[in-house]
Amino acid sequence: MASQLLASSDVLTYVSDHSRAEDEILRELREETASLPMGAAMQVSAEEGQLLALLVKLTRARTVVEVGTFTGYSSLCMARALPDRGLLITCDVTDRWPAFGRPYWKRAGVDDRIDLRIAPATAVLDSLFAEYGPGSIDLVFIDADKAGYAAYYEAALMLLAPDGLVVVDNTLFFGRVTDPDAQDPDTVAIREFNRFVRDDPRVEMSLLPVADGITLIRKTS
Ligand SMILES: C[S@@+](CC[C@H](N)C(=O)[O-])C[C@H]1O[C@@H](n2cnc3c(N)ncnc32)[C@H](O)[C@@H]1O
Repeated sequence: MASQLLASSDVLTYVSDHSRAEDEILRELREETASLPMGAAMQVSAEEGQLLALLVKLTRARTVVEVGTFTGYSSLCMARALPDRGLLITCDVTDRWPAFGRPYWKRAGVDDRIDLRIAPATAVLDSLFAEYGPGSIDLVFIDADKAGYAAYYEAALMLLAPDGLVVVDNTLFFGRVTDPDAQDPDTVAIREFNRFVRDDPRVEMSLLPVADGITLIRKTS
């Protein structure tokens, strides 16, 4: 029987209680981020951070690219999951938010495997293609401006090795994707992105109704 549990706040609390607790470093970074305007809304949840770390390990990723650093919580989760000599390249348009994360990366002992670039993501992805070449990246996590998702996805497919994974956040966009009255550019961009990925013959995909919608996309060719 097809079924989908609607996640009540009780269920979400249960999920949180039955996930591994954050260590002190992640908890303190979350608390500091929550004191910033929009901080809590921008950052991935503890459970999503754990999922990202698990995906890095499951794919045996050595080189990961993140689009949208913010205060570096998801960066920290993924960097910790990398093997020795692994590399996370993460980018943001401003250093204002990543500056909060850097001391936590250092405390966790992973600052040397994080290459933070402050520039628009399209420019960073272009320069990564020039520096590393096609097929050089194992996993790309996209969590930035929604209007840019389609371009970041194309750049990710060029950078990824065959079997590489793209993880895309906010693909249900607070449920706005199903609201016909929601015609703002971000919601429209996410709807178009979801349709495009569903029909893209270059990939296999799964849109998970987890957190704010997480799409997993495997490059098949
Ligand atoms: C949702 S937050 C990322 C949250 C982060 N992944 C985490 O969980 O802590 C999105 C970030 O993308 C950045 N951003 C927005 N437009 C961008 C662009 N064109 N290029 C790179 N970063 C961008 C914003 O400054 C913001 O810090």
